[in-house]
Amino acid sequence: MPRPETPDLAALRPRLPSPLVPADDERFARHGVRLLLKRDDLIHPELAGNKWRKLAPNLRAAAASGRRTLLTFGGAYSNHLRATAAAGRLLGFATVGVVRGEELAGRPLNPSLARCAADGMRLCFVDRAAYRRKSEPEVVAAVLGRAGLEPDAVYVVPEGGSNALAARGCAELGRELRGVAGTVAVACGTGGTLAGLAAGLGSGQRAVGFPVLRGDFLEREIRELQQAAFGGPVGDWRLDGRFHFGGFARTTPALDAFAEEFGERHGLRVERLYVAKMLYGLTALAEEGAFRPGTTVAAVITGQPEPSQPELSEPERSEPEPSEPEPSEPERSEPEPSEPETPQPEPPQPSSR
Ligand SMILES: Cc1ncc(COP(=O)(O)O)c(C=O)c1O
Repeated sequence: MPRPETPDLAALRPRLPSPLVPADDERFARHGVRLLLKRDDLIHPELAGNKWRKLAPNLRAAAASGRRTLLTFGGAYSNHLRATAAAGRLLGFATVGVVRGEELAGRPLNPSLARCAADGMRLCFVDRAAYRRKSEPEVVAAVLGRAGLEPDAVYVVPEGGSNALAARGCAELGRELRGVAGTVAVACGTGGTLAGLAAGLGSGQRAVGFPVLRGDFLEREIRELQQAAFGGPVGDWRLDGRFHFGGFARTTPALDAFAEEFGERHGLRVERLYVAKMLYGLTALAEEGAFRPGTTVAAVITGQPEPSQPELSEPERSEPEPSEPEPSEPERSEPEPSEPETPQPEPPQPSSR
């Protein structure tokens, strides 16, 4: 297929600004709080939510640099890998996915990786030690060598798609929400979405991020991303680390039940790895009386569930490790489930009515 010179993102007809819809929910209403849902999941069927916001500026930069191959990183169920593969197919980029876990190379692909492969992504499995060092130039060079690629032809997107361009892309989300809500809630993996969202909000508005990974690395990384993207700290934001439910891709019956019920109540399919935890946390905050009566809060629906997303409740809960984003430094590492786990405080529970 001939590759177009400049990818025409507009031809993909993204739904921007994304819809902002009121959600009638008595768990908020009884505290005098109005809830809005920012439906970024409706931006594009294949590049939904923060994937569009983070990838679009990188795709433009790749095209401007004349590089026609995208190389990026992710775990076996990475939403970001799938989105990059889809972007490649839609816009005529070749794509290479560096996947954590050498042992996966000999196994049938799971549905998520099968989707990447069907979209034309070349999958390159690396061992966990090399994966942890994936931002080091020698590791990238080794992967390029293995794939027979010239460095000059390749545009490298970091894991989770979070770099300075991505954060600037997410600032547009904040600008779309200017003046409409006092607090805006978003789920955090690498923190790129929150870094940009906070930068785009107007004065008097605050962003609250709900990390889905355990660990206290995120605040520093968000500050670093803001430094790279905007030259320094910007916007009013904070993290609430109580709602990770044990870490990436972990869940509990209470979270599952909440997500199911929230989806039915508000007519959306709730993405479970990120969005469910944010909605649970935000609802718990409302019930704790964290918002003054008369406040409006907006929840950003950053993605949609994939048919291939693992069912989190039973066997997949014992996935050996989180799939994405991969902690890159020791203190970010989530313990293997086989290690004795530090007892986690139960997150505060929102009521079901
Ligand atoms: C649906 C969804 N929401 C939120 C996030 C977190 O985004 P970030 O890594 O920018 O914090 C991700 C991760 O990419 C995601 O897939």
